[in-house]
Amino acid sequence: MGNVVQQDILQQLEQLRKDASAALAQADTAEAMREWHTEYLGRKGRLTAILRNLGSLPGEERPLVGKVANEVKDALENALQERQAASAQAELEAVRRAESVDVTLPGRPQNLGKLHITTRTLREIYAIFTAMGFQIYDSPEVETDEYNFQLLNMPPGHPARDMWDTFYTTTPGLILRTHTSPGQIHAMREYATEPIRVILPGKVYRYEAVDASHESMFYQVEGLAVGKHITFCDLKGVLINFANQMYGEGRKSRFRKSYFPFTEPSVEMDIDCVLCNGQGCPVCKYTGWLEMLGAGMVNPVVLEYGGYDPTEFSGFAFGMGPERMALQKYGIDDIRNFYTNDMRLLERV
Ligand code: PHE
Repeated sequence: MGNVVQQDILQQLEQLRKDASAALAQADTAEAMREWHTEYLGRKGRLTAILRNLGSLPGEERPLVGKVANEVKDALENALQERQAASAQAELEAVRRAESVDVTLPGRPQNLGKLHITTRTLREIYAIFTAMGFQIYDSPEVETDEYNFQLLNMPPGHPARDMWDTFYTTTPGLILRTHTSPGQIHAMREYATEPIRVILPGKVYRYEAVDASHESMFYQVEGLAVGKHITFCDLKGVLINFANQMYGEGRKSRFRKSYFPFTEPSVEMDIDCVLCNGQGCPVCKYTGWLEMLGAGMVNPVVLEYGGYDPTEFSGFAFGMGPERMALQKYGIDDIRNFYTNDMRLLERV
């Protein structure tokens, strides 16, 4: 009779081991594992319940059952520990995966900035003229009426002043320069009576109704050469050489008569349109020509104001708009684009 009970208990232990193993495989949270332990190995668990019947066994049968029961208990406890360790490891790995940096992924490209189109155009101009022996000369943006107009042969009331309306300060006679030409006087007064070869770049201001081809602030690059034997041929040679370097060898150019109070004679220089090669397109307004700059021989009156004797010295001067030149070169249709900083344009040019 005792033997039957022993067999029965051993069977129950075996069943418990199977059930517990299967249940453990399903428990995949810490909480589920705690519940599993309570159910199978806890003080009120199934193993305890089975062992409670141990008392009904004859003394000599108890050790075997006890031994098997301990084995089952040890095996299940080991299994639980393994399962807990595995689960902790998996959790750690998941965290590591979620937080890790994948060094094999391609990097995000950094957007490199670049110099503004105006700055680049100015630097191209500087490079070409400095190679021809011109120095860069800085002159102020806030000027007097005297420098901006009078010393350039435009006394008060001179009709040519109408070409250049500007911004006035609250100090009478102090204005924002309308062109870089007053820099000619500054350079001459500094160097007289030495020969001069300078370019004068900088911002100028005009009281304009702003539209696609007019801004109230823009850049100019002025040029001035003064010496004892300077002729109109020198002016043409320098400017044709400049056009060829700026826009490519073989540019056609033409000089049209013009008028500026501070040069005599005065011209405007055109080059054949760089976009259509003179065929005619919207940028050159179907003329085949682009207006590039104003120029002329320095008016003797201006030389005198600058401190040079016009019977001994002569000179030429020119003034160009670098933005207009960039506009033409890149086929940009609106000068306002230079200051609105629209990324679509800045990326294109
Ligand atoms: N200052 C003139 C302008 O702004 C350009 C110019 C400069 C013309 C030098 C002749 C000589 O229109």
